[in-house]
Amino acid sequence: MSINSKHPKSFIKLENVLIIGNGGRENSLAWAIQKNELIKKIFVIPGNAGSQKINKCERILLDINNNEELIKRLNFLDIDLVVIGPEIPLAKGLGDTLRENGFKVFGPGKDGAKLEYSKSWAKEFMQRAKIPTAKFWKINSLEEATEVINKSKRPLVVKADGLAAGKGVFIPQTTDECLEAAEAIFNGKFGNAGKVIVLEERIEGPEVSVFALCDGEKYILLPSAQDHKRLNEKDQGPNTGGMGAYAPTPLLNKDYLERIIKQIIKPTIKELQKNNIEYRGVLYFGLMLTKSGPKVIEYNCRFGDPECQTIMPLMDKDFVILLQKCAMGKLIGNEAINASKKVSGCVIATSKGYPLEYKTGYPINIGTIDYENCQIFDSGTRLSENGDVLTDGGRVLSIVCQDKDFDKVFEKAYRNIKQINFEGIYFRNDIGHQVRTKFSREN
Ligand code: AMP
Ligand code: GLY
Repeated sequence: MSINSKHPKSFIKLENVLIIGNGGRENSLAWAIQKNELIKKIFVIPGNAGSQKINKCERILLDINNNEELIKRLNFLDIDLVVIGPEIPLAKGLGDTLRENGFKVFGPGKDGAKLEYSKSWAKEFMQRAKIPTAKFWKINSLEEATEVINKSKRPLVVKADGLAAGKGVFIPQTTDECLEAAEAIFNGKFGNAGKVIVLEERIEGPEVSVFALCDGEKYILLPSAQDHKRLNEKDQGPNTGGMGAYAPTPLLNKDYLERIIKQIIKPTIKELQKNNIEYRGVLYFGLMLTKSGPKVIEYNCRFGDPECQTIMPLMDKDFVILLQKCAMGKLIGNEAINASKKVSGCVIATSKGYPLEYKTGYPINIGTIDYENCQIFDSGTRLSENGDVLTDGGRVLSIVCQDKDFDKVFEKAYRNIKQINFEGIYFRNDIGHQVRTKFSREN
């Protein structure tokens, strides 16, 4: 088979895939990957109660930090492609270890993951490449922080440098709150992740998530999505991992996307290469569309959750071949992303108390679901000893629908979510309000 074909074809064996992770993101990846007839088996480590329901999927319970055991098992299972879902194993260098042992891996090495696991490094990276982003200060002590905060006319955004499970960003309203946040971080609120902090000028505008599949040199863009980070309707309340999403977003028309490619995406790939970083995985650009143009809020080295659950149903069966090509450094760069013409939306059902404290272990009851163009991906679930599905996380289920317009998408998503029940279930009623013409609280 030719590798110069515009449409992706697998040019080496692609039968057994391993996905690492345990969330809705990983289940949606498995669901999209199983569509390809070449795929015989998908193993998920560790997965959750929903993983085994997916066609061709099998869960494996194995410690991914035990390299020797992991590699032995992957050789035994004859794995052709590994897809690493979450940032923590990427930041620990799992991608490097597996590649060194001869596996094809979709997911950057530790060097590429630094774009996510060190915010100060990412900011300096952007500064070098002249990529538009909010003005920032890298701060090593509370004294330094106090000086910069007191000099600033407006309260600055305060960020722990390292990985803090999405909780390390503070958007204070006053200078005092700013100082309090900096003090809390330096006092060890996030352990080593807060040894350094980043102070940033606060910028404004709608946020979009842009995803580029990269092979180290070339890239292909997926449909862009809009996440809903705040817990409550009207974008109020604390930040969460994401309460719902929709894709593609009409915020990015062709011209605006071209601008993002020119000012942000291409310079990022070029700067990675300049730093000798062969980035094979997905680059997630968290952007803010400000009055003066697009700016990078953050980079992530993995798919967004729940953006991934939203986008995967729009992919056709060749998606997994693109992942394999990225893992092998063999993208052509102009492959057709065979995205559906439909639009997609996702609503997340959470446990009461999320993102702070919540209880788990409640049985989940699912009534009559209209599954036509609708998927329910388990985000945080586990099986009880007698096989009942129980809640097992802050974000519990991802309800995703596709249709020809967003009104229809969310009408079905909310009709279906009403068929789901567990103690303390909570969800936002206004996901996709930006793109719905019909919206009522009764939805
Ligand atoms: P991050 O974890 O860096 O994506 O930040 C979490 C959220 O904080 C973002 O999605 C934004 O809503 C907000 N945020 C981060 N940085 C800034 C900034 N410089 N100005 C305004 N809002 C920000
Ligand atoms: N949905 C935002 C994230 O995955 O970081």
